[in-house]
Amino acid sequence: MSIRSTTNAWGVLARVFHWGMLVLYAGLIGVGYYMSDLPMSAAKMKIYALHKSVGVLMLLLVVLRVLWRWMDRRPSITPTAAWQQRIATVVVGGLYLLMFALPLTGWAYNSAAGFPLRWFNVYNLPALMEASPTLKVWMKEAHESGAVIFMAVIGLHALAALKHHFIDRDQTLMQMLPGRRGDR
Ligand code: HEM
Repeated sequence: MSIRSTTNAWGVLARVFHWGMLVLYAGLIGVGYYMSDLPMSAAKMKIYALHKSVGVLMLLLVVLRVLWRWMDRRPSITPTAAWQQRIATVVVGGLYLLMFALPLTGWAYNSAAGFPLRWFNVYNLPALMEASPTLKVWMKEAHESGAVIFMAVIGLHALAALKHHFIDRDQTLMQMLPGRRGDR
């Protein structure tokens, strides 16, 4: 299997971005819900710091992913009804938008709350906005609602992939699964 995508299947790098980032998003979402209910302690602060650092890392990864997608070719699309292709484009576009929006709203919330942001204990990152009680409420709401919408859109995307596999019986899912499957 090659690093670059072919007309039959996604390449290694596209698959690593897809599945690797999915695992990291699942971890961030799980930890996000878990940490906010914890009583105040040094451990809670460490978990928050980790969530924030990995969250900012996702911003960097999504920039690299978009660049790679732009440079890479894409496998040919299995013929589907035009309306289904339009929905798929909107869903994938929404996913990319949310992959940027979630870290940015988290970072903005952190800034509006007046907290410092030290990336993996190495760099101090700047605030995205001034500290403000009103902005803090809005950004918290945006980050939390964004996470719910993100999970719903990922769910839709996964259902569409399963429909391709089990109902249409085409290669769409196989082209993205890890391993050599679909790479013919
Ligand atoms: C892709 C990246 C990210 C994802 C998927 C994500 C996801 C989540 C989720 C699911 C929650 C729990 C929401 C709730 O309790 O309803 C959360 C909370 C939180 N996130 Fe993120 N997050 C990301 C990035 C960031 C970043 C970059 C920061 C800050 C720099 C951040 C700061 C926070 C904070 C401070 C909370 C706690 C909110 C509270 O006070 O309850 N997040 N995040």
